[in-house]
Amino acid sequence: MTTIYDVARRAGVSPATVSRVLNGRASVDPEMAARVRQAAQDLDYRPNAVARSLRRSRTSLWAVIISDIGNPFFTSMVRGVEDVAQEAGFSVVLCNGDEDPEKEARYVAAALAERMAGVIISSSGRPALISRLVQARIPVVAIDRQPRGVEVDTVLVDNTHGAEQATAHLVGSGYRRIACITGPRRISTAMQRLRGYQRALKASGRPATEDLIRYADFREEGGYRAMASLLETAEPPDAVFAANNLMTVGAVECLVDNGIGVPDPFGIVGFDDIPWAHLVRPSLSTVAQPTYDLGRTAATLLVERIADPAKAPSTVVLHTELRVRESSAPSAGRQGPAAGRTRSRGTAAGSLRS
Ligand code: RIB
Repeated sequence: MTTIYDVARRAGVSPATVSRVLNGRASVDPEMAARVRQAAQDLDYRPNAVARSLRRSRTSLWAVIISDIGNPFFTSMVRGVEDVAQEAGFSVVLCNGDEDPEKEARYVAAALAERMAGVIISSSGRPALISRLVQARIPVVAIDRQPRGVEVDTVLVDNTHGAEQATAHLVGSGYRRIACITGPRRISTAMQRLRGYQRALKASGRPATEDLIRYADFREEGGYRAMASLLETAEPPDAVFAANNLMTVGAVECLVDNGIGVPDPFGIVGFDDIPWAHLVRPSLSTVAQPTYDLGRTAATLLVERIADPAKAPSTVVLHTELRVRESSAPSAGRQGPAAGRTRSRGTAAGSLRS
């Protein structure tokens, strides 16, 4: 059976363009449109009647359901989604799930009720909601967080590798009791980043004991409280890996309130680059996510899913980048691990010490 991909290849355009031409959407260059129609005719392309009727009964709106509208990580990501959506003739409705599965469920219900053309979702951890969209034949792409128990197009970053690099860097900088502040256990990014932290400590010959781990809420206040809790222990840490931007800010605020210097005696690396991370002093070491590309990639998968509902789901994993700055700098005074140092690979933002 000829698919939209065959038509796109023959006409030398994207599946999204074929979809726009054959559905009469948005203005397409007349010469390009003619090529598409000719290719469809040559290949005797017959869009799936069910998919076509479903598409026609839909709006041109996408619901983008993010987990925290207060988090700057999502700003750049949604920008990437919107740029692709506009190019393909769709518009975006932004929904804030607030890390609250009940609130997220209300937005999923709205997307179903409004027969939205597609949904991109960074889920707060209830897979049944994504299943509802799949059962209703609403094209859906999971972004940032890995859905459990349901097969859909998914776009992630290499969370575990990024966290492992960050923690190995702290080991290599000579810190000896490295803690981890991560997010809720139900959320994939929290557990994948924790796993990377644990792997790096194990590789350096030190177990990641539970007393060095705190599960917070991916928010600033949760990061502050988690850092305070770690400082109150009998053997406080001398460094921390914080598993997202807002918790990193909270942890730094707690260190400042307690008069604890960074990077001496305390080191910190946060997941998610922060626009001003290089401007504060000491500048903040971070694991940068390709947030804009996350959004563009998810939106491209959604356009292709709308055009061809029958194709097999795919998962795309983008790379993070460790950006070493002053907040985790090695110091002669710190006796790092003599043996078994974890080698870290160089990064574009700065070579790491072995
Ligand atoms: O700060 C945003 C990042 O942390 C995202 O990856 C989100 O999932 C949270 O884990």
